[in-house]
Amino acid sequence: MKQRIRKAVFPVAGLGTRFLPATKTVPKEMLPIIDRPLIQYAVDEAIEAGCDTLIFITNRYKHAVADYFDKAYELEQKLEKAGKTDQLEKIRNVLPPGVRAIFVTQAEALGLGHAVLCAKSIVGNEPFAVLLPDDLIWNRGDGALKQMADAAEATGASMIAVQDVPREQTGSYGIVATDEFSGRSGRINAIVEKPAPADAPSNLAVVGRYILNPGIFDLLESTTPGSGGEIQLTDAIAALLADNPVHAYRFKGTRFDCGTHIGLIEATIRYALDHEKLSDAARDMMQNALSELGVIDLN
Ligand code: UTP
Repeated sequence: MKQRIRKAVFPVAGLGTRFLPATKTVPKEMLPIIDRPLIQYAVDEAIEAGCDTLIFITNRYKHAVADYFDKAYELEQKLEKAGKTDQLEKIRNVLPPGVRAIFVTQAEALGLGHAVLCAKSIVGNEPFAVLLPDDLIWNRGDGALKQMADAAEATGASMIAVQDVPREQTGSYGIVATDEFSGRSGRINAIVEKPAPADAPSNLAVVGRYILNPGIFDLLESTTPGSGGEIQLTDAIAALLADNPVHAYRFKGTRFDCGTHIGLIEATIRYALDHEKLSDAARDMMQNALSELGVIDLN
């Protein structure tokens, strides 16, 4: 199916327990890196890749995500009156014209696979993207999803983003085994969820960007719940491999696991150091902090 993706699914119905108590009221995807929430980075990446239909899988507690993408009439009027055009632009650009947002409720947190399945009737019979916003990918050139969408369009294969991880970390990821890579991608012949290092078929770990053949929906429907009673996306992908080409794509860029405390800190530091207005101040502040703690000697 050599087709450009137009639809992107954002599963954001997880409980975000690792960020409690903050996530008691603020969804994980609304945690900011500098001045934009994580979800905005993922949305921008999907739009850059060519998507014009964004499907958010939310739960009933996540009004904040829908509110964020809604028009803020009162705020816009106030900013307009005050002549604050820069800020006005910022809130208007949250979703550019021509891009529509659709919200689907996942009634129960039955797993990532189940969350993706909730998008079935909206996606229909075309290849589509899945982005997990807590995997934030920083790159100076094309975003990770655009790189993958170009490759998917050229080959007609499904694509899964991967990165090399230290072998001792395989237990935290889906791990793939592939045929030999040609350039940045290689056909996947096996995928295992969170294998112990000794059982891992490689150290190529799945990262939260996928371009999937719509055949995945039927496979998700027939997937039986795995660990924790959840329907795992990995299990359905393992079934998809049997009849469809699925490629691992080693994207260009740096990925931050913002679902963890240290990943969110790391991303904040990196974006601050790369920020056109904040970089000098951020570098000085970090040097001073390291010096005060005795980690570096500035003299
Ligand atoms: P995680 O494994 O990161 O879980 O989900 P979580 O609930 O978000 O966070 P922790 O582990 O409790 O801190 C991976 C992705 O799948 C989505 C999450 O929102 C996240 O983007 N997800 C997970 C759903 O949308 N529904 C689910 O039932 C489970």
